[in-house]
Amino acid sequence: MPDRPKKNCVEQEVICDLQNICTEFGDNIVHHNLNLKVSRGDIIALVGRSGCGKTTLLRHIIGLTKPISGKVLLFGENMHAMERVAQRRLMQRFGVLFQQGALFSALSVFDNIAFPLRELKQFDESVIHQLVMHKLALVELEPRDAKLLPAEISGGMVKRVGLARALALEPELLVLDEPTAGLDPDRSHNFIDLVTQLKKSLGLTVIFVTHDMDTLVSLAERVAVLEDKHIIADCALHELINSSHPFVINFFQSIRSRLEGL
Ligand SMILES: Nc1ncnc2c1ncn2[C@@H]1O[C@H](COP(=O)(O)OP(=O)(O)OP(=O)(O)O)[C@@H](O)[C@H]1O
Ligand SMILES: [Mg+2]
Repeated sequence: MPDRPKKNCVEQEVICDLQNICTEFGDNIVHHNLNLKVSRGDIIALVGRSGCGKTTLLRHIIGLTKPISGKVLLFGENMHAMERVAQRRLMQRFGVLFQQGALFSALSVFDNIAFPLRELKQFDESVIHQLVMHKLALVELEPRDAKLLPAEISGGMVKRVGLARALALEPELLVLDEPTAGLDPDRSHNFIDLVTQLKKSLGLTVIFVTHDMDTLVSLAERVAVLEDKHIIADCALHELINSSHPFVINFFQSIRSRLEGL
């Protein structure tokens, strides 16, 4: 695995710091002065209506896109202002599962998961084989699935291969966009268990987007609600019950009774 800086013992080390983010696509203003901090060990859900800018925000966090103004600090560093080598080193510290899986269509399941490991040029093929097969088992895929192409596997399997790839480098931070969408209830449940276990064993920090209330209730320790171009609530899940914001009341109506029991 890549060398990592020594873990900082300071509690509440901020891993991701979004400061006054503004994003516009032409006359479509998506984020306006949005602020959000994520600390080491947080499992935070980013929720909000479709098209409110959740995926775009995740893309800013991982350095794929840049806001028109504001600052994105990841592990205390501004990826957009870094040299390419330093940027690549930083990219080894997080894993990403994209909303649509985003596998390389011409590569097999095995080669997709192996991709970030091979990029590092640190491991020989026998080690890569071991690591890939381990990750494959972790996400409940069979060894025989390794040789299949993305077009030959189901939507739920695409998600799990994407997760295996995101975990390949044993990242400190996992960024997941709709991780359980398209999974059957059993797999969805197992996925939640897996992330919870990884959090315990690896001290993982997780930022995830979901529309799925079961995933939200089971996984999120904190919820950030994106509405009207900024974060309107950022608190523990059960504290949302106190929100008087119409959007929150409406959005969480379906789980209100479950929240009352928390
Ligand atoms: N590359 C782009 N060019 C132009 N507009 C974009 C681009 N990417 C996103 N948008 C717009 O930004 C807004 C937010 O999109 P985004 O994908 O972040 O929403 P979302 O909250 O993830 O929605 P969903 O829950 O449906 O996945 C939308 O209006 C979308 O059309
Ligand atoms: Mg999205």
